[in-house]
Amino acid sequence: MRSKTLIYVLFLVTLASHAAPRTGEAATLGLDAFLAGEARRDPSASNDSFTSLPAALKKTLAASHLSADHATLVSQLLSLQISVPVYVKLVGDFSSAAPGIIRSFASAALTSDRFHVIGATPHHLAIGHALHVDSSLSPLGSQIWNAIRSHLEASPSPLYRSALLSVPYSTVDHIVQQDFQRENTNSAPGFYIYLLNLGSQSKPYAYSVDSKDASLAFTKCLGTLWTGKDRYLWIDLAAGPVEYGPAISGEGVIPRGEFHPLSSLHGRPRSEKVLLSDLTSMVLSAYRALLVPSLRIPVLYENSLLIQFIHVHGSDPDTTGLDWTFIKQTLKESELAYKEQSLVFKSYNVKFSECPICSYAIARSTNSYTSRFLFENYTLIVSEYLDSKRMHQILSDSVEEVRRAAAIPEEEEYGKVLPVYVFDLEYDKLLLLDRYHQAIAFRNMVIAVRTRSSQTVSDYSCNGRHVITQTRHLDRPIIGSVLQSMWGVSPTHLSWSPQHNSTLVDYTWSVGQTPFGPFSETSSLSFIQRDAARRNVLLTSLNYTITSVIDVLQSMAAHGGDRKLLKERKHVEFVQRWNLLKYKLEKVVSAISHFDFEKAMYFLRSSDHDLYAIHTLIYEASQKLEALLVCFKDPPFPWASVSLFGVFLFGFCYVYAKRDKILKSKRKQF
Ligand SMILES: *[C@@H]1O[C@H](CO)[C@@H](O)[C@H](O)[C@H]1NC(C)=O
Ligand SMILES: *[C@@H]1O[C@H](CO)[C@@H](O)[C@H](O)[C@H]1NC(C)=O
Ligand SMILES: *[C@@H]1O[C@H](CO)[C@@H](O)[C@H](O)[C@H]1NC(C)=O
Ligand SMILES: *[C@@H]1O[C@H](CO)[C@@H](O)[C@H](O)[C@H]1NC(C)=O
Repeated sequence: MRSKTLIYVLFLVTLASHAAPRTGEAATLGLDAFLAGEARRDPSASNDSFTSLPAALKKTLAASHLSADHATLVSQLLSLQISVPVYVKLVGDFSSAAPGIIRSFASAALTSDRFHVIGATPHHLAIGHALHVDSSLSPLGSQIWNAIRSHLEASPSPLYRSALLSVPYSTVDHIVQQDFQRENTNSAPGFYIYLLNLGSQSKPYAYSVDSKDASLAFTKCLGTLWTGKDRYLWIDLAAGPVEYGPAISGEGVIPRGEFHPLSSLHGRPRSEKVLLSDLTSMVLSAYRALLVPSLRIPVLYENSLLIQFIHVHGSDPDTTGLDWTFIKQTLKESELAYKEQSLVFKSYNVKFSECPICSYAIARSTNSYTSRFLFENYTLIVSEYLDSKRMHQILSDSVEEVRRAAAIPEEEEYGKVLPVYVFDLEYDKLLLLDRYHQAIAFRNMVIAVRTRSSQTVSDYSCNGRHVITQTRHLDRPIIGSVLQSMWGVSPTHLSWSPQHNSTLVDYTWSVGQTPFGPFSETSSLSFIQRDAARRNVLLTSLNYTITSVIDVLQSMAAHGGDRKLLKERKHVEFVQRWNLLKYKLEKVVSAISHFDFEKAMYFLRSSDHDLYAIHTLIYEASQKLEALLVCFKDPPFPWASVSLFGVFLFGFCYVYAKRDKILKSKRKQF
């Protein structure tokens, strides 16, 4: 009898636990279907879909109650986390236990954090990220090894024995890319990291973009890793060792000891476990620097983007090394903008003789520095450079004058306009920005400069030789700067380090395919820059939404909580809006985790309506409450709550003034 009751109770419990999620699921499915329909009908989420929400869905939204405690709601918002799936493919000489060891090492390491913004005011965003590593063996080993071998056999011996032979990246890349495409169609989307442990070849080698060996005249930086156009990267552990970094000393030097994972493979043989632990730390480093890179600056969503290329030159302009069509094509084909966004390029020319302010900017910004060189005795050499801050100041102050001189129309209809000023000087000496840079990115402009001087020895070195900068070639520096100013993409060597609590310079990942840094020659963008450009816009807006909601919650708490502030009908609407907002934000986060940036953008823009509605509800209710307080409670005067109300009123007026603009362009400005 007792056991029968027990079974009966158990049966009821199972029934209940099955039934509960089923209604929840149905609601989610209904909401999913409804919002998917809305996304098709109104892809830019220009209208608030709340009013057309079916009554049944509204009811389920109202049914799940809020936690009474506002701190819980805040922590729910702050716990939104983008999960980053990473598949580590072990190619070549690995035991069958290796994937499991990699997984366990990776999960033991601390691998979740907030997204960061570096730059003038570094801070973290309200959104987190978490690494999920899966690992498996891959059978590509012999195919890749043979491809490298046949290239090495076909190439002539190097001038001296220890020199590295250069193998084109494409030799290995097309094999890896094919494998990636096969894998990627068969499993959930993720980033792929291929670790190639193939054993040494007959000659030492490393990779370059083309197979030409470096001439003695100028250094070519060889690398051992490549980031693809698609979401994969590969590292050849047997190639190299290559050394690259600042020539003298200082930040970003690749440690030359045997402890750095990229060179440790060339040391004495070690146990597989030690090797795998080094490889895991390399995967974690790639994760931080490449897969969840810091934002250079916050970037808001705009309906239309305009890049203005302003070439300021002497009497006979020379366009070699400054190919605007190439820059435009590179940026266009990288799909940096959203489908609903327009990206327009325009170019202008102006002579120095027609633009007095341009000459003035150069003259006022030219500075000199002295350095000591040892010839026969110590001699002082005076060199010149342009002070970028001063140029930026002058150009910002005289936008109108430059515009008049270059006949640039006023562009009101664009959400964001980025001028790229190129000063092409007929001057024989070298003149760089702040002594070292060909182009510098500012929030509101890019400044680039060149003279007739064609090359200079930089302060960077590759395998013991100085890197030569081709100072007349501006395409690559301009592409890198535009990526920073327009899309907030950080250069590959800059990232936030939570351990150091500051921005670190590390050139480990600055070879292969990247438009940044002195060690690569490619101007094309890898998945790292492509993804960052679109993700940065989402992260900035999401950060904005989350922090605004938290503000609203705080003022609600200051007014005694939702129940006290909102009466019956309003309270129901508040709960519905809140649950819808939370649902949409979760959708944004999950779409980003699946690399569906367009979908994430739709939900984010759609959630603006709910954010605005919540804002309005709370404001109106608090206004009523304040009126009551003032009427009935003459003495004592509620100073604290009135001043809080003032702050809130200011906020609301600001929102209200901007309302049309917000609803028109969906800019996050309130
Ligand atoms: C948005 O609402 C306006 C006015 O209610 C309407 O004219 C327009 O067609 C709607 N747009 C979409 C995409 O539903
Ligand atoms: C994120 O939100 C905080 C708080 O509103 C703000 O100070 C910060 O500038 C925001 N960051 C970005 C990148 O938008
Ligand atoms: C340095 O060498 C230059 C010529 O090479 C000479 O004119 C000058 O006097 C020398 N200075 C010193 C301090 O020896
Ligand atoms: C990081 O540095 C900033 C200032 O540079 C300081 O205000 C902050 O407290 C530091 N954070 C930690 C966790 O040390």
